[in-house]
Amino acid sequence: MSDIKVGLIGYGNIGAGVVKLLQQNADVIRSKVGASIVLKRIADLDITSDRGVTVDPACLTTDVNAIFDDPEISVVIELMGGYEPAKTFVLKAIEKGKHIVTANKALLALHGDEIFAAAARKGVEVQFEASVGGGIPVLTSIKGNLAANRIGSVFGIMNGTCNYILTRMTQEGADFADMLAAAQKLGYAEPNPTFDIEGVDTAHKLAILVSLCFGTRIDFNSIYTEGISRISALDVKFASEFGYRIKLLAIGKLNNGQVEARVHPTMIPLHNPLAEVNGVFNAIRLHGDFVGPVMFYGRGAGQNPTASAIVGDLIGLSRSMMAGAGRRMAPLGFMDDQVATLPLKPM
Ligand code: HSE
Repeated sequence: MSDIKVGLIGYGNIGAGVVKLLQQNADVIRSKVGASIVLKRIADLDITSDRGVTVDPACLTTDVNAIFDDPEISVVIELMGGYEPAKTFVLKAIEKGKHIVTANKALLALHGDEIFAAAARKGVEVQFEASVGGGIPVLTSIKGNLAANRIGSVFGIMNGTCNYILTRMTQEGADFADMLAAAQKLGYAEPNPTFDIEGVDTAHKLAILVSLCFGTRIDFNSIYTEGISRISALDVKFASEFGYRIKLLAIGKLNNGQVEARVHPTMIPLHNPLAEVNGVFNAIRLHGDFVGPVMFYGRGAGQNPTASAIVGDLIGLSRSMMAGAGRRMAPLGFMDDQVATLPLKPM
């Protein structure tokens, strides 16, 4: 089979990481896929800024249709983030018969049903490992080796920006606003950092996890969501004095057939492993009825870890294509019509 041709929509910090990884580890990737993955077109409104990587200028375009209308491109990587125009573009790419790799948790949390239904109709796949936990392979594990379990709970630290801010406030007495600026500079924060600090990004990730873990849809707007913007240096100091760390937690539980889903700052006792999760690191713990407790830990944001998850998805899709997989199995969760929507437990 010839090379796998890919289009990228959204050439920001993460997009540049994907370019870098595809270039730097081309030999590793080729050995896993049995063909080269070629980034044929990159679409962004800004195609002139220096991203610290070199690409053939002919591959850059401001017109996304150059990707949709290219019959050679079989996979579209969507890294725009946000709801629109990402949703329109993803649906258009699906309509054109292209597989999707996305890191867009906002899009999937709110419009996952529509996107997965469209993909099922066209017989294409949507892969989204990078949408939760940055480089941590948590979704792939839930969909794969943990799939036989009934999962009763999933919770943890799922926003690198907030954890970075809280860690430095705790360890250095640093100022909230300064630390948010530092997290933005390091490429951790969302284009709209309000999503990070008000807990919305974490709630997006929780919605995706709940869907996969419990096999049910969840009304995103029903998730109780409180961020860290009102946490003061004094709060952090007092928590430390009493033997706690303040962490932004996402918590999803199944209670007698009802889903409990909430995001809020939480006092974690120092002896709890979550108290030791610092900086940009995320930790996600779940409990399966056969496997028992499992904890995932790693870098939850940033260019390289996120690119690792995206290109991992790309390799998985490419391997399926190389193997000539016909109609693939429906992904778990979002589009499982056999599973009734469970009610959300009122807080
Ligand atoms: N802004 C997100 C975070 C990026 O800080 O965790 C990774 O999803």
